[in-house]
Amino acid sequence: MTTTLTTHSESETAAAGRELAATLAPETAVLLFGDLGAGKTAFVRGLAEGLGANPSDVSSPTFTLIQEYRGGRLPLLHVDLYRLDDSREIDDLGLEELGSGGVVAIEWAEKLPRPIPGSVAVRIEHGDGDTRRITVERN
Ligand SMILES: Nc1ncnc2c1ncn2[C@@H]1O[C@H](COP(=O)(O)OP(=O)(O)O)[C@@H](O)[C@H]1O
Ligand SMILES: [Mg+2]
Repeated sequence: MTTTLTTHSESETAAAGRELAATLAPETAVLLFGDLGAGKTAFVRGLAEGLGANPSDVSSPTFTLIQEYRGGRLPLLHVDLYRLDDSREIDDLGLEELGSGGVVAIEWAEKLPRPIPGSVAVRIEHGDGDTRRITVERN
């Protein structure tokens, strides 16, 4: 099932993440696709909020690779693959096990060496000005 929406601000994109969060079961991977500045981290901030974690803990994990936010309905693991190019390094993260029991949100998911079964794909594209087109696809 695919849904598409257009947002006009960072907070609207976060709200879309919040809405998705309400529907997520444990062990779900949310794969985020989109250019730098598309709004992937903003969307994850909404996911954290929707799960009940503190959204202000969510920053771009470009330098930390993996962050975990607890305190919500499910733990949220936030991964940013931007700096990883070697698929072996990505494999070594063991993302599928890391997410056990919680939700894993993965920015730059195009770098994943293989698909993650049952994942939700979120694609964010720049439109004019601050508009973003967001497509959410459940597999
Ligand atoms: N509709 C929108 N949705 C999300 N972010 C937006 C939007 N309009 C403008 N922005 C800005 O774009 C940037 C998105 O940053 P970020 O979420 O870190 O992107 P990414 O993680 O994809 O690199 C922020 O500076 C945000 O304020
Ligand atoms: Mg980001």
